[in-house]
Amino acid sequence: MKLDQDKKSDLIRTASQARQWAYVPYSRYAVGAALLSASGRIYDGVNIENAAYPVTVCAERVAIFKAVSNGERNFQAIAVVTKNGGMPCGSCRQVMAEFSPEMTVIVADENENVVSESTLAALLPGAFRSDSLV
Ligand code: THU
Repeated sequence: MKLDQDKKSDLIRTASQARQWAYVPYSRYAVGAALLSASGRIYDGVNIENAAYPVTVCAERVAIFKAVSNGERNFQAIAVVTKNGGMPCGSCRQVMAEFSPEMTVIVADENENVVSESTLAALLPGAFRSDSLV
């Protein structure tokens, strides 16, 4: 399904607005994500840090886990917004690949300018997936 410009703008705005809820007392690096499911619903997410640093969960995974725990498994696109347009980490790419390897990944900065638009397949070629488990 082709993603129209309005939908992209919706996703970027939702991710940008979600950043206010990021729990980032350690890094001060707020990340907002907005995930568009195949059913057309949008799930947002923010990074949630922890005093035990490795327990921190990224915004992308929060959005995906919220969606999956609501019965969604197929995703059209995700928008990720940070101050400087940082790219999704490898762990988040792996979680995206589990569900929708063809999904569109849009990355924008705090002014909602798109710095990258690609597919998950391009960001994580050769992902380890369920068909690897023989
Ligand atoms: N972070 C994300 O939320 N998503 C990413 O893809 C990269 C990193 C968060 C984790 C941590 O709270 C902060 O950004 C700095 O690493």
